[in-house]
Order: sequence, then structure tokens, then C-alpha cells
Amino acid sequence: MSPSLMILQVSFATICLFLAVTCSNLDGNQPWISFTQWASTHGNIIYWKLFGRQIIVLQSQEIAKTLLDHRSGIYSDRPPLYDTRAVGSEFNSAQLRYSDEWRLHRRIYHQSFRPEAAKDYLPLQLRKARQLLQGIIESPEHYQHHIELFASSVIMSAVYDYEAKPKDDPLLLAAEKAIKVFLEVSSLPIQVILETFPFLLKLPSWMPGSGFKKLAIQSQKNASAMVNIPFHYARERTMAATSNHCMVSESFKRSEMHSNANEFELALKSASATAFIAGTASTLAVFVLAMMLYPDVQKRAQEEIDAVLGNQLPTFEDRPSLPYVEAVLRETFRWHPVFPLGLPHYTSDSDVYNDYYIPKGAIVVANIWAMSQDEVKYPNPNEFKPERFLMADGKLNDDTIGFIFGFGRRVCAGRYFADASLWISMVSLLATFRLMKPLDNEGKEIDPVFKWTTGLSSHPESLPCRIVPRHPDMTARKLADIIDLSA
Ligand code: HEM
Repeated sequence: MSPSLMILQVSFATICLFLAVTCSNLDGNQPWISFTQWASTHGNIIYWKLFGRQIIVLQSQEIAKTLLDHRSGIYSDRPPLYDTRAVGSEFNSAQLRYSDEWRLHRRIYHQSFRPEAAKDYLPLQLRKARQLLQGIIESPEHYQHHIELFASSVIMSAVYDYEAKPKDDPLLLAAEKAIKVFLEVSSLPIQVILETFPFLLKLPSWMPGSGFKKLAIQSQKNASAMVNIPFHYARERTMAATSNHCMVSESFKRSEMHSNANEFELALKSASATAFIAGTASTLAVFVLAMMLYPDVQKRAQEEIDAVLGNQLPTFEDRPSLPYVEAVLRETFRWHPVFPLGLPHYTSDSDVYNDYYIPKGAIVVANIWAMSQDEVKYPNPNEFKPERFLMADGKLNDDTIGFIFGFGRRVCAGRYFADASLWISMVSLLATFRLMKPLDNEGKEIDPVFKWTTGLSSHPESLPCRIVPRHPDMTARKLADIIDLSA
């Protein structure tokens, strides 16, 4: 059998892996690690060619800031893609070309999630964090479900004012299904492959290699449910004046400022659904892993919380008094960034940086992973050490690790909201529970066995964890009473 025929007969994921590895010794599952290794021989800017596409990988924060932040006039586009409608992802603000349509999406986000506006969601985020505690105390063995529920229901409420059910909520199930497939089809190697071989999306279903098309059709169906159903719910309630504060209702109130109502509504619907592609649950999974592996860090954070709060549950007002907890959040972001390659930028003009010529029409990738593992800035980067962010007097230094949210005009539009969701959920978990390694049959602690997910986002999958209340007399009932008193 010829090699090309062989390729067509293997599965979708294997094709990507096989092609990427064959073409350039790239670890197709974790390309960010290959790029980081290449830095030692090829330097901090790598030029890489995949199927004729020119890809430039920026490996240091300084270079990424110089190019993507300071020369954003050249670096704010996204790569032209195969027809995004083929996988149902045309709604995605993050994939839009640098255009008026993108500017409208960005304006909608800015109005709801800029620092001042994001504060309006703090009470909601606090309430959802308390629901997370309640869920975990009732069934700690299903903590991953509770974390995912927290992450998606906080978005559902903030964007659509939709209160998700704790179990089998149809809208959440639709969104989860859509995102899972979407993250798979959005990884850099797969995007380049689909753009280069668009026929893979058109092969008849009986043909070997039609896995791409099947996946695309599945993705289309899932995305349509995720984009349309919650939006119609929020739209109707906004029109009936029964909706509470949320991104959709607030945006409709401002929509008179826009001359084309249909265009505005389509942009709002699409921007709203983009919020589901957030890294909140993934970052919480990284946090749980770190707390299991570094019990001393966990203990120190809990001592800080106890000293400041006694038996109270934390609120956002306590944030400035808890520098060590803040350092734990920053270290979680750094230790394992959940979007290790961010999202690809694209040059709208050629550029010169030092001795490097950067052509027009090149895909430019900020290797966030390499930046987070910079040995000079973060000695022993594999170790989870929140102390890196503290000065000798115990105060926080000014490294806020903002690079994990990307760069330039395409920087994450939901970063202040994400930061608040993560802080309140982590501090609430630390105040209430001990997160420990699982036990074997003889009651001895064992190192957790799990896999890192691959694709656009990377986080621990199916991670076993033993979660017990810190105070033995803490029961679901008691927690519910405390929450009712203080929420
Ligand atoms: C821990 C959580 C999150 C992380 C680590 C994260 C990270 C990122 C990164 C790396 C980018 C690409 C930036 C670039 O191109 O340079 C991005 C884009 C984006 N993020 Fe986030 N994000 C998070 C949560 C959220 C949330 C909660 C929302 C919505 C409420 C959101 C909305 C967006 C949007 C709309 C874009 C596209 C921006 C554009 O292309 O103009 N993100 N995010």
C-alpha cells in the first residue's frame, strides 16, 4: 500500500500526529514542548514550514510584547481558515479576521467584561463558587463534574442569565458536547491540515479518510445548538423585560447605537457563544493537581486564610489580604498554561525584527508554554512555587503573569472575568476542603495517574483526587446554613 493511502486509512487524530511528526520532528500532541526544545538550538524566534504555511514561533515574552503588543498594526489578524462553516465555528470571535465584524464583537465584550463592568458579576461569581462547595461536599468523588458545572454555569448566568440545573442541564450538555469537539478541530496542526487539504472535509462518508468530514458534521450540529438555544432564551427574556443583568440583556439595551439591527444581533449571538471556549475548568483542574502534589503549599495557603478569616468563608473583599493565595493563583497560571500556544496571529504586512525578516501572510504563534518555563525568570520551572511571586516582605511582586491571556489587540477579552471566577473558586475550595492524593487498597497515598489533554487546550483529564472537609464537623447541611447566612 502506498504511504498516502495508508495515511487516509488511519484515524483523524492519528493523521494529524503522523503528518506533523513526519514533516518536522514535531510532537503533534504537544507541539509547544517541541518548540520550547528547539529554542536551545534555533533561538527565540523559530521559522517553521508546515505544508507550505509559514509559521513563526515567538518563544520569549519580550519578543512577543515587542511584536504583538507594540506593532499590533501588523500582528492583529487571524489566519485565513478553511471554510469555518464546515465545522460550525463561524460564530467564534477568536477566529475572526481583523475586520469591522471583529471590532463589533470586541466592543460587545469590552462593554460587558472590561475591568469596571466585570465587577458587576462578582456577586454572581461568589454565589456560583458557594454552589461549587455545596456540590463537592455532597459528592466529592464527582468533583470534576462540579468544577465543570461551576465554569460553564458561571458563563451561562453572566452571558444569558440562565440558571443551569446541577444535573443533566440540556443547555450545558449541548455546550459541553460542542466545545469538546471544537477544541479538537481547533488545534494548530489540524487547522493547517484542513486549510491545506480542504478536500478532507468533502470526502464521501464511505471513503477512507472521511473522519474529518464526520467530525466536522458533528461539530456543526453541536455548535448550532450551543449558539442558538441559550441566545433565544436570553433574547425572549430581554424582550419581555424579565432578564436580570447579563451580557445579552445589557448589550440589547445599547443596541440602538448600532444602525444595523440584524448585524448587531448576529454579532451578539456569536460573541456570547464564544465565551464557552474559556479555560476556567481546565485551570481549576491544574490547580487541583498542584494542590495534591504540593501539600505544603496548600497548608500555607490555608493557614493564611484561617489567620485572616477565622471560620468565615472568603469573599472578594478579602482578596487584598491574601497575598499567598494570590501567588498560588499566579503559579497555577504559570505552572501549566491551559492554552500553551495561545491562538495564532497573522501578519497583515511584512516586518523586520533585529536580523529577522517576517513575511506578510505568516502565522505567528506566541509560545506561552516556553514563556512560562523560562528558567531565567522562573528558576526550576517544573516546581510549583508560589513564593516566586512574593518579595522578601511577603508582598506580591509586579509579575501578574498576564501573558497567559495572550497579546496585543487580540488579548483575551474575558480575562478579568476569568481571573475573578478562578480566584473565588480556588480560595473557597482551600478554605473548605483538603485536596489529597487518592489512596490504594491498603490506605496508602498514591501518585495520581492521569492524561494531559491535547489540542488547543491542555489540562489533566480524569484526575482522581481525595477531597475531605477541613473541619470534620462540616456537613452539607451546615455548609448550606453558612452559605445562606453569608451569601
Ligand atoms: C483561564 C481562563 C482563560 C484563559 C487562560 C484564556 C486565554 C486566552 C488566550 C491565550 C487568548 C488568545 C489571545 C491572543 O490571540 O493573543 C484568548 C482569547 C479570547 N478569550 Fe480567553 N481565556 C480565558 C477565559 C476567557 C473567558 C472566561 C472569556 C469570556 C468571558 C474569554 C474570551 C476570549 C475571547 C472572546 C477571545 C478572542 C479575542 C480576539 O480574538 O479578539 N476567555 N483567551
